[in-house]
Amino acid sequence: MIVPVVIAGGSGTRLWPLSRTHYPKQFLPLTGEQSLLQQTLLRLKGLEHDPAIIICNEAHRFLTAEQVRLSEIPHFPIILEPEGRNTAPAIALAAFKALETNPDATLLVMPADHDIGELEPFLNAITLATESAGEGKLVTFGIEPTSAHTGYGYIQKGQPLERGFTAKQFVEKPDELTAKGYVESDQFVWNSGIFMFKAQVYLDTLKRFNHNIFEACFNAMQKQQDDLDFTRVDASAFLACPSDSIDYAIMEPLTAQQNDAVVMIPMAAKWSDVGSFDALWQLLDKDDEQNAIGGDVIAIDTQGSLLLSENKLLATVGVKDVVVVQTKDAVLIADKNNTQAIKQVVAQLEQKS
Ligand code: GDD
Ligand code: MG
Repeated sequence: MIVPVVIAGGSGTRLWPLSRTHYPKQFLPLTGEQSLLQQTLLRLKGLEHDPAIIICNEAHRFLTAEQVRLSEIPHFPIILEPEGRNTAPAIALAAFKALETNPDATLLVMPADHDIGELEPFLNAITLATESAGEGKLVTFGIEPTSAHTGYGYIQKGQPLERGFTAKQFVEKPDELTAKGYVESDQFVWNSGIFMFKAQVYLDTLKRFNHNIFEACFNAMQKQQDDLDFTRVDASAFLACPSDSIDYAIMEPLTAQQNDAVVMIPMAAKWSDVGSFDALWQLLDKDDEQNAIGGDVIAIDTQGSLLLSENKLLATVGVKDVVVVQTKDAVLIADKNNTQAIKQVVAQLEQKS
């Protein structure tokens, strides 16, 4: 059976000031009553699976534990990282964990920060992927691109298979011109960030392409310590681990060397990684003027805007395509067509503190 792995250690800096260091986006109820993490966990109810492995940052252990408890999903003690080292190490820790109880474990890696509109296409794609993963392939799930987004990975479709396609090329976060060419070519899909593979296959591949990450994670798990609902990996071993994402550390070099190791299964779901305020605006209900509004807001002669206010009256007059987000201690005003740069605000804040 599948072992779900929920990676929940990201920081969501492009959604500042909603998403904060101590309360990142995966824990926020951005698109409904449930947080993105809870929505991710609840998606599992449609699947038969072994206990899930959830992995997050030490600083968010109580937030994570509470949301996991509410989901009532069977799970292992939550794995805690002393500091994030990106997704390649996080998935490696989970893979070592799964192998402790099942040497043949197949992992379903799920980012905790996605909104998926419909459950059925998601579950159908997972069912199709199970067989390929069982044959030792690394399976990715592709989303039909709707723009030349530069925050995603792009997968070039290779040979059609009985289920899905071989992945001819994997390019993580290309520049805009390259992304535009990919979208126009009709040969590329977005990488959804969801993966399926045997735990052992992942670790063997990691060892091949990045021995240092493999070794550091192996050492960190050798000296893991259980503490009630949590498992702490060995801090000094893990802090010595290089930081890299699965996309750069494995998917790019593997597809470049071998054209049949990665399988891409198209996922026809309405999918968003809610990575920016523009993406959030697209997901939310809008009024007749195309404004998405939350909280106490008066919008006069205002169109196409995202207006969120936590605790004060927010009024706008005569503006178009703006993002205004007002929280207890900060106000953001941004052009809705330039929301990727908001992470620079967080970078400056970090420099100051
Ligand atoms: N445990 C843990 N530790 N989780 C992490 C860490 C970490 O150090 N870093 C990130 N994560 C989690 C995030 O919380 C998120 O759920 C997931 O891993 C992906 O990380 P992001 O930082 O959000 O990646 P991205 O969105 O820039 O890019 C990835 O996802 C895109 C789709 O959303 C890539 O896989 C792209 O190729 C892909 O298109
Ligand atoms: Mg993301």
